[in-house]
Amino acid sequence: MKTAIYPGSFDPLTNGHVDIIERSLKLFDHVIVSILHNSAKSTLFSLDERISLIKEVFKGNSRLSVETFDGLLVNFAKSKQIFSVMRGLRAASDFEYEFQLAAMNRRLCPDLETVFLMTGKDTFFLSSRLVKEVALLGGEVSSMVPKVVEIALKNKSGKNK
Ligand code: PNS
Repeated sequence: MKTAIYPGSFDPLTNGHVDIIERSLKLFDHVIVSILHNSAKSTLFSLDERISLIKEVFKGNSRLSVETFDGLLVNFAKSKQIFSVMRGLRAASDFEYEFQLAAMNRRLCPDLETVFLMTGKDTFFLSSRLVKEVALLGGEVSSMVPKVVEIALKNKSGKNK
C-alpha cells in the first residue's frame, strides 16, 4: 500500500488543504494528515480541535487518517517508514520556503521525497492565516473552508453567541 504524509499546522483546515488531500488520494492509497504539535507556537484551535475538524470533514473515508507529531518531520516519517511527503504550492512566494524545507528534509533523510501539488484556481490565494484574520474580523469565509470549520471559526469569533 502506498502511503503519504501530509504535514502541516492546519490551524484551521481550509479548502486548499482539502483540495491537496483529495488529489493526494488519487496518487496514494492512504494519506496521513499529520498535524504539527508545537507547544511553543500559539494557535487559534487546540490540537484536539484541529484533529476533530479534519476527522469530521473526512468522516467515512478509511483511506485517510489523522495523526500528530512533534519535533522533526523526518523522525516522524522514519518512525512510520513512510517516505513520501505531500505539500501544496500556491504561488512563487511559497517556492523558496518549500524548496528549503524539502532540501533540508532530504539532507536529514535522503530517502524522503517531497511531492508538490500546485493549488487549484479556487484555492491559490487561501492560507489558514488569512482565513482566520478574515473570519475573526467578521468577514465571509464560507467559500474558503468546509462548513464545520466555518462554524468553528464563528464560535471562536463569538458570532454564534
Ligand atoms: O502548515 P505549515 O505551518 O506550513 O507546515 C509546516 C510544517 C509543519 C510542515 C513544517 O514546519 C515542519 O515540518 N515542521 C516540523 C519541524 C521540522 O521538521 N523542521 C525541519 C525542516 S526545515
